[in-house]
This record gives sequence, structure tokens and C-alpha cells, in this order.
Amino acid sequence: MILSVDASPYLDQTLGTSGLRKPTGHAMQPHYVALFMQAVFAELDVAGATLVVGGDGRYFNDEAIQTILKMAVAHKVGHVVVGRGGLLSTPAASALIRARRAKAGIILSASHNPGGPDGDFGIKINAAHGGPIPIAVSDAIHRRTRTTSHYAIADMPDIALDRDGRHQVDGCLIEVIDGVTDYVALLETLFDFDRIADLFRSGFTMRFDAMHAVTGPYATELFQRRLGLPAASLMNQIPMPDFGGLHPDPNPHHAADLVDFVAGRAQADFGAASDGDGDRNLIVGRGLVVSPSDSLAVIAANAHLVPGYRGGLAGVARSMPTSRALDRVAASLGVPCHVTPTGWKFFASLLEAGLITICGEESAGTGSNHVREKDGLWAVMMWLNILAERRQPVAEILRDHWQAHGRDYYQRLDFEEVDAAAAEDLMETLRRRMPLLAADLAGRLTVTEVNDFAYTDPVDGSMATRQGVQIIADEARIVYRLSGTGTRGATLRVYLERFAPRGEDHRRLPAEALAQVQALAMQVADVSRFTGRTSPSVIS
Ligand code: G1P
Ligand code: ZN
Repeated sequence: MILSVDASPYLDQTLGTSGLRKPTGHAMQPHYVALFMQAVFAELDVAGATLVVGGDGRYFNDEAIQTILKMAVAHKVGHVVVGRGGLLSTPAASALIRARRAKAGIILSASHNPGGPDGDFGIKINAAHGGPIPIAVSDAIHRRTRTTSHYAIADMPDIALDRDGRHQVDGCLIEVIDGVTDYVALLETLFDFDRIADLFRSGFTMRFDAMHAVTGPYATELFQRRLGLPAASLMNQIPMPDFGGLHPDPNPHHAADLVDFVAGRAQADFGAASDGDGDRNLIVGRGLVVSPSDSLAVIAANAHLVPGYRGGLAGVARSMPTSRALDRVAASLGVPCHVTPTGWKFFASLLEAGLITICGEESAGTGSNHVREKDGLWAVMMWLNILAERRQPVAEILRDHWQAHGRDYYQRLDFEEVDAAAAEDLMETLRRRMPLLAADLAGRLTVTEVNDFAYTDPVDGSMATRQGVQIIADEARIVYRLSGTGTRGATLRVYLERFAPRGEDHRRLPAEALAQVQALAMQVADVSRFTGRTSPSVIS
């Protein structure tokens, strides 16, 4: 029986950098998820289609997934593929959408944000190509939510998600699958598993932190069962609805235990972590944390050592705030380097058109054309395969890289939960002052360009404007933008970069190498006055 339920529309269902993201309590209001999904189903026209559904296992996902399944039946969806236990990492979901020729994917995740009743909840919608839906579609969904005042839902019992199975309900096949096997099989087509297993057998030690999030089962299958890594090398590998009370963001701040073990106390050769939904990564070597921008550049420069990329790279891409280290690698390889706004949807378009093979963001997202999302475990496997070939410590690989290309010292400062109006004001003031900045900074920075980043997609011609203010100099760069994934107030991100060319000292601490740029960045935008903060909440 199909019920039509009336309810008042919610007017705040805006989709940000990665879909709908709200405090959990907010998303648990009556009919909130159902009304949103009604708009999604109507916009995507899902009758007869295949959908992929899964998420990072966070609190309230179970209930939301049951609602989505019942609504899928009501909307005459032909086939729903759901991850067992409601679990699918974002990259595994992307792979599954492609493999099953699904029309769309629904990924329940607020990525690296904390989970639980006081944490966050999120719904990401992916397109048939496996990547995030383009802005035109997310805008259309948002517009629909504002007038959606009913939803259709089947009156049926919950589907058992704790075991694999096929459930035929009213012409809709709901198939519960183990999300791990297909994903690991995909990685096997790209990497030399034997060589990596050899590396582990040779005494090379590794530690992986799944942060009690979705990659636990994937990492157990991949590293432990397939590659022979001892079980004790995995940390926090059981997914939990509240991530064990931790913050599943793989940065030095939130993965402090791992960083201390590998970088601080040098107790392992290699450390890695992944976030809530498994699309981000952290790479750590004995004595050092690899900055995500450097990791991207090293991966691109060494990709030819990995079987899946032996044929070379069609091109590469980075998000605008990501350091220019990738550009230097691209120039030396003689391949194009595209610069896109923040968010994977822009890469998805380039990947789909075959214009790029590898891409990434400073926020610890790296990926390739094997899926249309960033992929945390893929990045870890790239490093492992490169290490298995080069048999050098991580620190030495970086040192060689900087010697060849120069080093882009890099840091991101986050000012979290600042007053939203004040943050807007800061950005608008900065935009107004853009024409004056070069002169203001004369003598301190040789500014070659100041702009508010705008991007035209080379594939479909769509435009994105107001993507962040950049102050570009030959020797340094400062970028300001507001986060599109926060759920409380606004988050101002300030990105700092300083270039140390070949032959210069590459052993400085980033904080020290960037101290002057940071002082300028704080001053130019009057950050303390607008935000009331003299120092950032997080530095990564
Ligand atoms: C953040 C990151 C961005 C990433 C996104 C989703 O977005 O900065 O690179 O694509 O999360 O993981 P932001 O909050 O900055 O809009
Ligand atoms: Zn994520």
C-alpha cells in the first residue's frame, strides 16, 4: 500500500559542497528526510531505474535508509542496491553506481564531521557517472524542496540489512550486498598486490586508522586478508554510529594518535587514515606528515610505477586552493593541469571526459579515473605501490621530490563556527578591496594577480563564480573562501603557500616557513576584527 503523507516544506534544505548536511537533531525533525527525498526522487525521475544506497554507518542512517527504501518502492524504482549494514564507502558507492549502471546513488554521510545525536547527518546525491550531481541539479532539487508538501511512501516492514539478500517488494528488487568485495576487486585491477605483500613481508611496518568509520571492513579485507598486514596494524577498524566519540577527519589534529605513533615516535614506516565515508586520506611517514598537496604531487609524479597508470596520465587537476606543487609535476610530465573550484563534482566532469587521470584537493582528497569520487584507500594503495617499487622511506621520497621540483610549503587555517554575517562581511570587504591589494602589499609580496576565482567547465560550459579570493605572487599565495560543508555558523578557510625553489632549504617547518605569509593573510583581510579570533581553530 502506498501512502501519501502531507507535511509542511522545510525551507533550509540547501545543498552545499557535498549535498545536504545538517546537525543530526535537525535532520531528525518529523518528515525532514522524507520531504527532501521526495524532491530528489521527483527531480531525478527514478521510475524503473536502478539506485545505489549506502553510507558511513553514522547515527540515524539506519532509520533514514529504511525511509529511502520505502519511498523507492512508492516511486516505482526498479532495483535498489544497498550496502550490507547500510554501509558503503563513498568511493565504493561510486564504483557500484558505474558497475550496476544505476541512475543515481544516495550516500548517507556527513563525511569527516562527527556523528551521533549531537553530531551531523548528511545525504549526498550522485549521478549516473558515479560522481556528485552537478550544481544545476542540486539547485533544482533545492528549489523543489521549497514547495514539496507531501511524500509518497510504501507501508511495508523494514528490510533486513544485516545480511545479504534479495527482497522483491511490489515490483521493486531490493538487493542487499556486501560492499567490500567488488571494491577490492577494482583495486586489484590497478595495483600490484604481490609487490605490496612483498613489502609487508620484508619487515616494512604500517599502521592504518579507520577512525571507527566506514573503511574498517574495507581495510580489514584489503590490508589484513589480502596483503598480509598483521591485525594489530589496524586501529579503530570497527564502524560505530558515533565513530567512538572521535572526529573522523584524518588530519594531524584529529588523527593525533596515529601521527604521534608514526611521525612523532617513529614506531612504523608508514601510517595512513581515512575519514567517515572513506574518501579522504592522511599519509604519514617516519618523522613527518605528508601534506595532502604534496601527496597529490608525489602520486602524480610516481604514477608510472603503478600498473594501473603505466600508460601515463592524460592530464591532472587540483582544486584552486590546493598548492601549486601539482602544476610543477604536470609541467615536467608535459600534461595539462586543470584548476577547478572546490568540490569533486568539477573533477567528475573532467574525469568523465577523459581529460584527466589523477586529481586531488588540499583537504586530503585524492583520486583517479577508476571512480568519480575521491578515494582514501586508493591513495594509500598508490603510496604503498610506490613504496614497494622505490623501497625508500617516505621522507626520502619527499626530499627527492622537492629537490626535483622545489617545495611549496603549505598550510590551511580554519576559523570554525564564526558568525555567518561577519564571515560574509569579511569576504565582501575583501572583494571590494581586490583592486587595491597589489599596491597595499608592495614591498612585502610581489603580487602578480588578485582574483575572485571563476571557472568554466571545459566539457559542458557551465560556470561557477565567486569561488574564493586569491592573492597570487610568484613566491607565495594566499586564498580565502568560506566552507560549503559546515553546519553551524560559518567556517572561514585561509590557505597559505610559499615556494622554495630547487636548491633552497626544504627542511623548514611549514609553520615557520609560512609565518610571514600568515601574518600578511591575517592583516590583509582583517581576520581578527571580523571573526573576533586571533588564531585559527584548526591548522592542517
Ligand atoms: C570541504 C573541503 C573540500 C571537499 C569537501 C568535501 O569543503 O574543503 O575540498 O571537497 O569538504 O569533502 P568546504 O567545507 O571547504 O566547502
Ligand atoms: Zn569524506
